[in-house]
Amino acid sequence: MKTRVLKIDDLNRDCNLIGEAAELIKAGEVVAFPTETVYGLGANALDSQAVEKIFRAKGRPGDNPLIVHVSNVRDVDKLVDEVPRRARILMEAFWPGPLTMVFRKASIIPDRVTAGLDTVAIRMPNHPVALRLIDFSGLPVAAPSANRSGHISPTTAQHVLEDLDGRIPLILDGGKCCVGLESTVLDLTADVPVILRPGGVTLEMLEEVLGEVRVDLNVLRPVAGGQKVKSPGMKYTHYAPRAQVLIVRGELAHIVKRINELAEEYADQGIKTGILATQETKDCYKKGEVLVLGKRTRPAEMASNLFLVLREFDVRGVDVVLAEWVDTSNEGLAIMNRMVRAAGFNVIDV
Ligand code: TXA
Ligand code: MG
Repeated sequence: MKTRVLKIDDLNRDCNLIGEAAELIKAGEVVAFPTETVYGLGANALDSQAVEKIFRAKGRPGDNPLIVHVSNVRDVDKLVDEVPRRARILMEAFWPGPLTMVFRKASIIPDRVTAGLDTVAIRMPNHPVALRLIDFSGLPVAAPSANRSGHISPTTAQHVLEDLDGRIPLILDGGKCCVGLESTVLDLTADVPVILRPGGVTLEMLEEVLGEVRVDLNVLRPVAGGQKVKSPGMKYTHYAPRAQVLIVRGELAHIVKRINELAEEYADQGIKTGILATQETKDCYKKGEVLVLGKRTRPAEMASNLFLVLREFDVRGVDVVLAEWVDTSNEGLAIMNRMVRAAGFNVIDV
């Protein structure tokens, strides 16, 4: 299959291109499209065969459910059993935006989408191309991140092409995704809402609107063998660059000291080493390929750079990445959630 890439530069002029993509969705095909978080690979959420094509193109395990994307708050009503009051409050506060909510599903949603769960995850993305695509198709659009399963989520059309060239018919290129990390997944089916995956809408932001909110223990911890998880995505090693990642956690001065010692050791052994530093520490490192995530005082900015920087280590061909732990408040929680998975939970305390 030939993969076409259509660049959307001007929303009004290029409207017909989005229309073409919407026709593909209506015809049961898959289309990659930009959102504010990462690129998604979309298909008609009400058509199991179309959804099957997403799983096939990505090589995604069948037990990992998909997020259903809508362009309008009203569309949620037919997809779920009931919209709880707090969901309405959250939609008002954060939609369109990087917040996915988990509801009890309506029977109209095929089991293929939810991997047999009785719940469905829904979000309204904050990207004009995504919103128009969904709107023009007149359908709810099931879409995971548009990468091969297990790879880093794509934040540009080029990343999508690198992973899915020849496997999907069309990519809408809307430029770089600004949030740069996947949405927050919030389970609303329990008494107290639970963050299953942290993202751009932070715990602090949710608490301000809702009061009590919990964070699932598996956000920063590996899933124990045989443990039943709320979000199947937690089980998989995501976001993995080719290099082996090791995270160093502790006081900043100790982190820097240990990373320098390790970089020295690795250099002596001829191991090509990358260092994931921050603006505040970058000049402290003498050996290795140093890349900067951003300023420690600006976690949203660090989050938006994370996947790009991990990819850059791959381009530079490093064998090992030594990464600094960052504070887990605000967007820091989402950063470390992705990082510990990229590292296979390889964290040393100093
Ligand atoms: O920002 C995003 O959320 C992007 C863009 C494209 O919207 N999408 C995305 O999808 O990251 P994906 O499939 O890569 O991640 C979806 C996550 C997975 O961890 C999955 O297990 C979880 O959401 N999920 C989906 N449906 C669920 C459900 N019913 N209950 C619990 N977790 C669910
Ligand atoms: Mg994904």
